[in-house]
Amino acid sequence: MADPVLTLSSLLQPVFDALADGNEADPTVRPSDHADAQINGALPLAKRIGTNPRELAQRVVDAGALDDVVSAAEVAGPGFINVNFAGPFLADQVAEVAEDERLGVPDADPTKTVVIDYSAPNVAKEMHVGHLRTTVIGDALSRMLEFVGHHVIRENHIGDWGRPFGMLIEHLIDIGEDAAAEGLAQNELDAFYKAANAKFDADEEFAERSRQRVVLLQNGDVDTIALWQRLVDLSTEYFNTVYDKLGILLSDDDLAGESQYQPLMPDTLARLEASELLVDDDGARVVFPPGFTNRDGDPLPLIIQARTGGFNYATSDLACVIDRVERLNADLMLYVVDAGQSQHFQMVFEVARMAGWLDADTEAVHVPFGVVLGPDRRRLRSRSGEPVKLIDLVDEAVDRAEAAMAEKNPDLDPAERSEVARMIGIGALKYAELSSDRVKDYVFDWDRMVSFDGNTGPYLQYAHARICSLFRRAEVDRTSVRTAPIEFGEPEEHALALRLLSYPTAIDTTLETYSPHKLCTYLYELATDFTSFYERCPVLKADEPTRTSRLALCDLTARVLAHGLGLLGIDAPERM
Ligand code: ARG
Repeated sequence: MADPVLTLSSLLQPVFDALADGNEADPTVRPSDHADAQINGALPLAKRIGTNPRELAQRVVDAGALDDVVSAAEVAGPGFINVNFAGPFLADQVAEVAEDERLGVPDADPTKTVVIDYSAPNVAKEMHVGHLRTTVIGDALSRMLEFVGHHVIRENHIGDWGRPFGMLIEHLIDIGEDAAAEGLAQNELDAFYKAANAKFDADEEFAERSRQRVVLLQNGDVDTIALWQRLVDLSTEYFNTVYDKLGILLSDDDLAGESQYQPLMPDTLARLEASELLVDDDGARVVFPPGFTNRDGDPLPLIIQARTGGFNYATSDLACVIDRVERLNADLMLYVVDAGQSQHFQMVFEVARMAGWLDADTEAVHVPFGVVLGPDRRRLRSRSGEPVKLIDLVDEAVDRAEAAMAEKNPDLDPAERSEVARMIGIGALKYAELSSDRVKDYVFDWDRMVSFDGNTGPYLQYAHARICSLFRRAEVDRTSVRTAPIEFGEPEEHALALRLLSYPTAIDTTLETYSPHKLCTYLYELATDFTSFYERCPVLKADEPTRTSRLALCDLTARVLAHGLGLLGIDAPERM
């Protein structure tokens, strides 16, 4: 059981090897717009062995290796081979997948330990729309990696350390813990931070207290640490509220904030020193990774220890690399962080390689993403010009979905309606995020997001719900069709079957580049293939055995849709 395109490839490999006289030759089979698939490997092979490409292509066809799986194979153009799969072959494959809980998706080989760093908001600061991207993209990737069998370790690298904590703690003392707790719980995080900052700027006595507090914090003073912990707890409680609403897998067990790496930093420094990478640069201790220069073309340093003796963001990320490699045994580390931090990560990874902490067996990948834009194509802002709070977006998405549901399905019972609205609203928000290529900036557009047409979350959810309702109307138990014989003749059935069978490949290509939009595109194409099938091929009115065979196609489509949405972190309601 495999994607038929891959089956073709493996059937053709011996044919190509024989023609290439034992040398390596790749059949290069691809899905195609002109046929079910196109074999492109004859051209380069003909060039290599000095023969006519069309003749060689014909020899590939005549070798007969594909006879059981294709109904037509035709040499085209300079030497491509267009093939269509045989209906019975596809039908057998679909029947096999229908019985498979994993919908044909094999386990990754080899399986890896993958550490994925995502979300990472900052303590005593609001979660803004930018955090939506890392949170939703990271969560989807972690679900997919886990599904294909990797050992996934989620780490939420929250910003919970640094100089601002001096003033934050002093402000906490000034207003009292209860008032602080109330403010932070009511998602007044930015107000808290701003108030502390304003006092710091205006009041020298407060500023001095704050500086002393930083020293106490760094020295591990018990009372100071308790106050710091209080701030961290209040913030993470708030982050958890947002994660709960959004349906994000992160929990307190995944917290791995900057503070955790503080005790490791002196050792990091010592190890860099021992490998003779450290350079004194105007009193600071730095590493110059080759290939990084500033605008004037001068080498760019990664600052490990500032002149004042303090450590930097880069140092904590280096300590974190060591921790992930040596304690967690990571084979692969993903950092889902905005594109603005690209240079930081490239430099950190390069220094880690120079120090020998990263080698050929451990890969570190920055998975960057662009900015969320408003309708004016500038960074999305609220009406008052402030950055948009993530929690407000979440609530508005659900409100909009409620309104849409009230209009679309007024008969649904109110409790179910609000549950479904929650799934649609959150799904719409997540899908809009995931369906656009993450590296690009994208325009936030409420109307498009919650629309039931086009490449949107609600459209896919609706396609799924429609199939569920078909089974309810027919009073057929869905599991009963999963072992039914499949047979078909209509081109729409053929196309739908082929799409269903390429689900594993869709997941594969998505994970190859950590690009969830590729899975979204696949699901959208599946939903449109289903729509064409459903318009063209009567299901309930068809005679047996066609009726049951078509029901089986419907059931499998719904399962792949729900499963794929699930990998994106999106629920698929059975009724909407
Ligand atoms: N807290 C950081 C920020 O808001 C993101 C941390 C990303 N992860 C890391 N290992 N540096 O910018």
